[in-house]
Amino acid sequence: MTRTAVVAGVGPGLGESIARRFVAEGCRVALLARTASYVEGLAADLGEAALAVPTDLTDPDAVDDAFATVRREFGPVDVLVNHASGGSWKGVRDVSLAEFEHAWQVGARAGLQCSQAALDDMVGDDEEAATGGTIIFTGATSSVRGRGGAAAFSSAKFAVRGLAESMAREFGPAGVHVAHVVIDGGIRPPGRDVSNPEEYLDPDAIADSYWHLVEQDESAWTLELDLRPHVEAF
Ligand SMILES: NC(=O)c1ccc[n+]([C@@H]2O[C@H](COP(=O)([O-])OP(=O)(O)OC[C@H]3O[C@@H](n4cnc5c(N)ncnc54)[C@H](OP(=O)(O)O)[C@@H]3O)[C@@H](O)[C@H]2O)c1
Repeated sequence: MTRTAVVAGVGPGLGESIARRFVAEGCRVALLARTASYVEGLAADLGEAALAVPTDLTDPDAVDDAFATVRREFGPVDVLVNHASGGSWKGVRDVSLAEFEHAWQVGARAGLQCSQAALDDMVGDDEEAATGGTIIFTGATSSVRGRGGAAAFSSAKFAVRGLAESMAREFGPAGVHVAHVVIDGGIRPPGRDVSNPEEYLDPDAIADSYWHLVEQDESAWTLELDLRPHVEAF
């Protein structure tokens, strides 16, 4: 089955691994990020199955336009990955209100708006006739354990987790699998060597798990998946 997938917030790390894996599995994949040159280069590399849609996810009109473009070029959305995050690494006394709000706009608000657009396709107006789909949210350690000195990032990540859980309960009966992935560690950075690679999560290995979430049987859906490198203590 050919699915249309949207990765909202693609960069050279995990976002690219997810996009490559989904294309390898036969999906048509729309690549959303602000940096046009990057998404256009990746789309050119991936071929006809990929579509570059330069988008600032904090701009509601741009998000509407992006989903209209995806539908026009690739048809209704079957899979959405809400992947982008934002947030200054500042503590409570230093973070500005604008920085705090921006983290929330990128994570929770854009996650809500992209999901609303995808749900229009997955559920439509008639739940009985819903085709269903998959919505995956990318989380972090800070989604479940607030990080000191990262007030905006941590609170926005908690908000995303709450949104995902609420959405899973609301739309499971309509056949929409909503999952939240806690990435509990650093993702191996693209394009540079690290002295201790075993301490990082391999982005291609994470992407394997994302694809598994898409393929899961509806009798045994994951709501939350947490992933970490084997050397980390549990
Ligand atoms: N890296 C880690 O070690 C790590 C660890 C745990 C969890 N995570 C989570 O993993 C996700 C990111 O994965 P990654 O770090 O490997 O990054 P990535 O997939 O390489 O890149 C994510 C991309 O999101 C895009 N983005 C950010 N703000 C955006 C906006 N307003 N509109 C549109 N696109 C936007 C950025 O591209 P543009 O600048 O071009 O817009 C960025 O390159 C995040 O949810 C993060 O919290 C990361």
